[in-house]
Amino acid sequence: MQRRPLIAGNWKMYLTQDEAVALAKAVAQSAAACADRDVMIAPAFTSLAAVCTAVQETGVLVGAQNIAWEKEGAFTGEISAPMLKDIGVSVAIIGHSERRHVFGEDSAMINRRLHGALNGAILPILCIGETLSEREAGKTFSVLEAQIRHGLAGVDTEQMQQVVIAYEPVWAIGTGKTATKEQAQEVHAFIRQLLESIFEKNVATAVRILYGGSVKPENIDELMAQPDIDGALVGGAALKAESFDRIIQFQ
Ligand code: PGA
Repeated sequence: MQRRPLIAGNWKMYLTQDEAVALAKAVAQSAAACADRDVMIAPAFTSLAAVCTAVQETGVLVGAQNIAWEKEGAFTGEISAPMLKDIGVSVAIIGHSERRHVFGEDSAMINRRLHGALNGAILPILCIGETLSEREAGKTFSVLEAQIRHGLAGVDTEQMQQVVIAYEPVWAIGTGKTATKEQAQEVHAFIRQLLESIFEKNVATAVRILYGGSVKPENIDELMAQPDIDGALVGGAALKAESFDRIIQFQ
């Protein structure tokens, strides 16, 4: 089964609106040269609307870095799916390790956010990943299994076709330390097998599993050559047009 690759840039808390629009336009140019893959960028909330306008009709997807579970209400600081849809956002990153570890978001909250996205026709990218101490203690697979089972609780087979998973080992995010292609492939294959046991084979075969954590021009090709790696969630290297261009143009 051919899975359409997805190269996603997570801009985190960087870039003013003007900087974001300029980078978005450069990304649209890079993406135009590659019709066989999806490209997504996730600016900070303040730049979302301007970036949506800048990439309109280019095929570049715009993502939010988080999403609320309710449509509206007294939820100070939150942004809902209908609000995001309203300005042209079609993707949301959910459960990023910085949300989990810096802001204390737990599995139950992440699961609610995922349902908020699905109910609002926003494509969720569910992030999972083990810390260094969990890996060293031999707990990688059990941690990931729990994050998948809790994160996807209540998701049915049909909804699962809209979900993207991003495996991001916490020890590789922003550290310059990438998982080796073998380490990443081993985990991606494990995730796909687990999804097959929870859902069904054709769902597991179709789901896109991205790798994230210090992805850069130097390692994208070998990562993308792995059979179960279907794309990348890129932080630092997505903030520069040149390096993100090379990542989009992976071989
Ligand atoms: P990084 O970030 O590429 O800077 O390691 C990845 C991420 O946090 O999604």
